[in-house]
Amino acid sequence: MNHQTQVGIIGAGPAGLLLSQLLDQQGIRSVVLENRSQERVESRQRAGLLEQNTVDRLRQAGATDRLDREGLVHDGIILSYNGQRHRIDLVELTSGSRVTIYAQTEVVKDLIRLRLGSTPLDAEVPISFEAEATRIDGLESSSPTIHYTQNGEAHTLTCDFVAGCDGFHGISRASIPAELTKVYDKVYPYCWLGILAKVPPSTHELIYAYHERGFALHSMRSPEISRLYVQCNVTDTLEDWPDERIWAELQIRLGSTGWVLAEGPILEKTITPMRSFVSEPMQYGRLFLSGDSAHIVPPTGAKGLNMAVADTGSLFDALMTWYREGSRANLDTYTAGCMRRVWRVQEFSNFMTELLHHNPDRTPFDAHLQTSRFNQLITSRAASALVAENYVGHAAKQSAEATT
Ligand code: FAD
Ligand code: DHB
Repeated sequence: MNHQTQVGIIGAGPAGLLLSQLLDQQGIRSVVLENRSQERVESRQRAGLLEQNTVDRLRQAGATDRLDREGLVHDGIILSYNGQRHRIDLVELTSGSRVTIYAQTEVVKDLIRLRLGSTPLDAEVPISFEAEATRIDGLESSSPTIHYTQNGEAHTLTCDFVAGCDGFHGISRASIPAELTKVYDKVYPYCWLGILAKVPPSTHELIYAYHERGFALHSMRSPEISRLYVQCNVTDTLEDWPDERIWAELQIRLGSTGWVLAEGPILEKTITPMRSFVSEPMQYGRLFLSGDSAHIVPPTGAKGLNMAVADTGSLFDALMTWYREGSRANLDTYTAGCMRRVWRVQEFSNFMTELLHHNPDRTPFDAHLQTSRFNQLITSRAASALVAENYVGHAAKQSAEATT
């Protein structure tokens, strides 16, 4: 069967869903193709920390009703080095910026409700679940076609533009000719084991902890649910980490005199590899990549979701210049505009990762540098301010706006 729309979007993660919702608000039609079921997409546990820029874009999309009620606004974060704690006052160091804890799964659910709720009865369904994109044709023409399969049947979707929002394992990135593509890749020698636990958080602000035994992070989802992460080995499986071992390591690594970590039933456990990855360019003909399809960061700086939303914002603005003024100008500069932000975020995510993890391959020299970097954070307001600026997203925004 053949279908038609204005913007064909591959992937119903935050990048694809947000683009579809922003376009819909401006009267531009789109169809999102998603290979997983709606239930699966809405239940995947991933990131949880939103920058103000991200909240602003979600507000522009009309997607903040529940976020405004349930999001937890934070004024600072705590860094811990072998039990010694240092608070980074985000508000004071950035002249007023805060961050919001609100799970990626909730952002995704809110956007899906909005899109499915706005379907005119006679229109194309705005999100097709269990629809797997297999190939994109005609990217050099003015009407590219996405080939996909659903319920064992072959379909095509012809559109003005294709948005490749299909994450790291999608097909979009590979549709850009290999001879035009440059890839930068770094894999870290450790992973994160993440848990969701039914226990009130033991802290009001996130704690990022370096410990000789490895990294740990105390985050949260609500006043009743905690989200915690612990560094593990790349060869570890979930069988290596019974609940008692997870809590014991978290107690040691997050520990500080006079502070107790409350334990509770573990609802979910996953292991996530750590990687930095950039593929350039983010566009080819009528195809534009957004989010994890073009770049991956290790999660220590909480940037993956925020970067996906920032790309999508830039792509939406450029598409609107096309649809309103018939000008390709902002589409042509899409990659260049994103890359400045992407590299700023790459550097920050790498910095936070190497500051806070125990690298099993590090030399004694590297270990001293790591300690010295942490000492500088404690003693230098300028060093803390730089972390704060990057964490709330200002530095990335300024970098994207720079002209050279
Ligand atoms: P995705 O959310 O990956 O969405 C892509 C969508 O495309 C998916 O729904 C996928 O099913 C679909 N798709 C793929 N191929 C096809 C196809 N051929 N046809 C149709 N659909 C397709 N970031 C943090 O900052 N902190 C964290 O703690 C954190 N934890 C993470 C844990 C995991 C397991 C993963 C995978 C990522 C994590 N991230 C984290 C990163 C963050 O979640 C991502 O940066 C964010 O999801 C990027 O959004 P996206 O829309 O670009 O891609
Ligand atoms: C969360 C994840 C992160 O990677 C991070 O840096 C902060 C918070 C979270 O899932 O809550």
